[in-house]
Amino acid sequence: MTTTRITKAIFPVAGLGTRFLPATKSIPKEIMTLVDRPLIQYAIDEARAAGITEFIFVTSRGKSALEDYFDDAPELEAELRRKNKADLLEVLRHTNMDSGAIAYVRQNRPMGLGHAVWCARRLIGDEPFAVLLPDDVIAADRPCLQQMVEMHAETGGCMVAAMEVAPHRTSSYGVLDIGEDRGTVVRVKGMVEKPKPEDAPSTLAVIGRYILTPRVMSNLDRIKTGAGGEIQLTDAIAEETGSAEGVFGLRFQGQRYDCGTKVGFLQATVAFGLARPDLKDEFADFLHGYFAQAKAAQ
Ligand code: G1P
Repeated sequence: MTTTRITKAIFPVAGLGTRFLPATKSIPKEIMTLVDRPLIQYAIDEARAAGITEFIFVTSRGKSALEDYFDDAPELEAELRRKNKADLLEVLRHTNMDSGAIAYVRQNRPMGLGHAVWCARRLIGDEPFAVLLPDDVIAADRPCLQQMVEMHAETGGCMVAAMEVAPHRTSSYGVLDIGEDRGTVVRVKGMVEKPKPEDAPSTLAVIGRYILTPRVMSNLDRIKTGAGGEIQLTDAIAEETGSAEGVFGLRFQGQRYDCGTKVGFLQATVAFGLARPDLKDEFADFLHGYFAQAKAAQ
């Protein structure tokens, strides 16, 4: 089978981030910091590692800090150069995007994830593309999207990242109806967005990484509102389960953190803090001491 190289990725970042008010009153949720990097940087790095070279952001009002983040910062860079701060200059260099590598389209009304992705249709054209939801941060030896690109070269079609969730959590996810279970990869015969546990076809949930065929964009042209009164990406992908190319779910290797919730963000902060060679000893000492003290006080 011949599969086209995937070079374009869509990052839906138009959400209001109300769960993180008041912080998100003036900063986009995607700029919130996990250790010392904004959430969006993790998604960008993962996309780059998977071979993505064109980055499409679907934004909304109030997201200009995001555009500035990826731009050059000439005054800051000059100041760092003057002070011989080569290490910090290198950190900054990593955040800059080449002119033309990044594009922004606006979603003028919040109408759901499917609608946000559809807003990028003219920039995608007739190619397969990736979608990354920056709220889902995935710690993995091999970045999740790279795992998907490699498996996609074998399967073709559409592919979603998939993870087992507790039965009572299905109503927070898109859930897969498994046609054929091959272990690491499943062929999907149906998909349901946010089903109640009693209606869920399985407990294998979609995590925010997708490789999609252009047909999904065409499906979004005519898809009607679904769960929560929104245009759902899940519904547009589900239409492809019956096609010859098909839809696949990859049980990726790695730990996913839901940074769209406060608890998930805190968990990710602890995990990523402990994974940093320059921070882990001091941070681990603090945590041990903290829990020992709390236990003694009981
Ligand atoms: C979105 C998708 C859902 C998916 C989830 C993963 O939901 O609609 O299918 O399971 O991301 O994080 P959201 O969390 O944006 O409500």
